[in-house]
Amino acid sequence: MVSSKADTKGPHAVKDTLPNKTVLRALAGEVQSVPPIWMMRQAGRYLPDYRATRAQAGDFLSLCYNSDLAAEVTLQPIRRYGFDAAILFADILLIPDALGADLWFVTGEGPRLSTIETMADVEALKPAGDIHEHLAPIYETVRILSRELPQETTLIGFAGAPWTVATYMIAGRGTPDQGPAHGLRETEPAIFEALMERLTRATIEYLSAQITAGAEVVKLFDSWAGSLKGEAFQRYALAPARQIIEELKSRHPEIPIIAFPREAGDGYIGFAKATGADCVALDNSVSAEWAAKNVQVDGCVQGNLASSHMVTGGQALVDETRQIVEAFREGPHIFNLGHGITPDADPENVQLMIDTVRSIAPAESVA
Ligand code: CP3
Repeated sequence: MVSSKADTKGPHAVKDTLPNKTVLRALAGEVQSVPPIWMMRQAGRYLPDYRATRAQAGDFLSLCYNSDLAAEVTLQPIRRYGFDAAILFADILLIPDALGADLWFVTGEGPRLSTIETMADVEALKPAGDIHEHLAPIYETVRILSRELPQETTLIGFAGAPWTVATYMIAGRGTPDQGPAHGLRETEPAIFEALMERLTRATIEYLSAQITAGAEVVKLFDSWAGSLKGEAFQRYALAPARQIIEELKSRHPEIPIIAFPREAGDGYIGFAKATGADCVALDNSVSAEWAAKNVQVDGCVQGNLASSHMVTGGQALVDETRQIVEAFREGPHIFNLGHGITPDADPENVQLMIDTVRSIAPAESVA
């Protein structure tokens, strides 16, 4: 599939040394007539096989820390749909857990954690270098996956970005507006920055260990980046991403990194260049046409079909999928949703999305 002339146009020449993995080729800047596809939360509750394995594990956190079962749920959507990438099954809140915060999940509600309010709370966390023993099962999941995945499937590791993880640690739960985290950063900047620093170090150590275990790409999820505006976005979304990426690139120069500053809006412009990311993942609050002009000019983009189409399906899914592929076809692109697939999604709609992307005829070559 990656052989026609149309595949080799675009800003970067094809690197012959790249393995036959379409996701790695897109991340290296290759323009492909059919973009590779994967989906955020592709292993999740919309799949009956996921629900069965989670029940076998007992609960969500036990599933994350059970390497065999976590590898199994990671593989389920690959077997069912043949996605071009697998994302490690884990959670962004395992870092706070490894740092010594209490973490539990309330079914139907989401995560709960012990809160961070004082400098003593930050100082009670473990040093960033001490997370590996706790996270060893995650690295084992990565090792199992790098043995068991089909050779054409790219293995993606991930972590939450410091700001997003901090919003959960400060509030002790998910919040609609990240109010407690904004409050702490405004009234107690020293406490807030000490927490951000600890998380930045831990994230570097965690992602670096995932890479050593076999992750071929890593992705940084900053799900709440959009609630940081102006100077705060620069300091707490962009700067930590740059620091993490710089350090990972110095340790593992060949590993591509995807940044996802969700709902950054104009903040997406120049984000890859400013942070050193190889790819920016886009949510669906920006149009693909806008992003092609303003973001894809700097390299690979990932996204950005609204995940609601996985619930509603039909012609609207087909039309919107086509429009996104068309908008991004002049540059490197990885097809994905704008955010994670939801539990009420219909597995048939996922197949319809994949069939639509893979059936779009290559563009007429422009003389
Ligand atoms: O994308 C993937 O499939 C990889 C695995 C993955 C999960 N969570 C599994 C999960 C990834 C990359 C995440 C990231 C994550 N986790 C984020 C950032 C991305 C995003 O979606 O914005 C955040 C904010 C979290 C924290 C988290 N984990 C919350 C708020 C919740 C509860 C909300 C919900 O959807 O239930 C989780 C639980 C969670 N993480 C589930 C899964 C499959 C559902 C748990 C279950 O099986 O009950």
